[in-house]
Amino acid sequence: MFGSRNQMTGRVVVITGAGSGMGRELAIQFAREGSPVAITDVDRDGLAATAEMIEGDVLARELDVRDRSAFMAFAVEVDQWTETPIGCLINNAGVTVIQSFSDASPEDDEWVMDVNYTGVVNGCHAFLPIMRRQGSGTIVNTSSVFGLMGYPHQTAYCASKHAVKGFTEALRHELRGTGVRVASVHPGGVRTAIISNARFHEDDAGNREHGDASARFQSVALTSPERAATIIRNGIEKGRARIRVGPDAVLFDLLVRLFPVRYYSILDRVFLRFTRS
Ligand SMILES: NC(=O)c1ccc[n+]([C@@H]2O[C@H](COP(=O)([O-])OP(=O)(O)OC[C@H]3O[C@@H](n4cnc5c(N)ncnc54)[C@H](O)[C@@H]3O)[C@@H](O)[C@H]2O)c1
Repeated sequence: MFGSRNQMTGRVVVITGAGSGMGRELAIQFAREGSPVAITDVDRDGLAATAEMIEGDVLARELDVRDRSAFMAFAVEVDQWTETPIGCLINNAGVTVIQSFSDASPEDDEWVMDVNYTGVVNGCHAFLPIMRRQGSGTIVNTSSVFGLMGYPHQTAYCASKHAVKGFTEALRHELRGTGVRVASVHPGGVRTAIISNARFHEDDAGNREHGDASARFQSVALTSPERAATIIRNGIEKGRARIRVGPDAVLFDLLVRLFPVRYYSILDRVFLRFTRS
């Protein structure tokens, strides 16, 4: 089934977290290619700005992916929106928290898990019945390169993105022969608002641990949101089950396969020292 063309032109593309970054770029590109786009975000202003940029049919709804009932209601609305079938759901919304595990606020870690993992599961609950009925459609779940490896000060994020990968692979095997495809996306560093939208640990004096992370991230992230969206779109249309985004994602994935235990000390010595200077 995978490997055949999976054309989205003329089919509805549903995207969560479309008010910024990769979600916004995906919406713009799919719309430009002729897909009606149904877009959501918890950030009303960001979502409205994306809707303004779309040429073509757009349905924009404020939606928190953690809210399963709202997600189910949105799926019903999308199903009734046009005559055309739903081609693809991209569970893209995501957040992170940057803090050491010992300093972490459990509430922040739960927030990351709820948005990144439960949000993906909610999306699948909402749209899978429609795709099963159609006998077609692709569910695309956004993991990360941190869903393939561990990284310090990102324990909750890594856990949530590994959970997305495991969930996605199991669901893919479960849906063999149904006509519904399931894929995971693993971006490396992409220059979006992910770090400026992150939560940080603050000490008692209000100082942020890793307070300079946003500026550093922008200087080391190798891929633009436009390029990332193009890679994801091509991956979906080529029917890929696993889409790596950016040269760092490809390199880190290889490193983890070759050195499943020592990869981080190699990374630290060879790669990360340049990004620290
Ligand atoms: N930027 C990177 O380097 C990178 C790397 C790997 C994976 N990712 C993943 O890519 C996805 C897109 O992130 P991005 O980099 O474009 O970041 P971004 O911050 O620019 O966009 C994320 C969007 O998700 C929305 N969002 C947050 N919480 C939400 C919720 N509860 N319900 C609905 N929407 C919500 C935000 O409002 C925002 O518009 C995320 O899943 C992220 O974890 C990003």
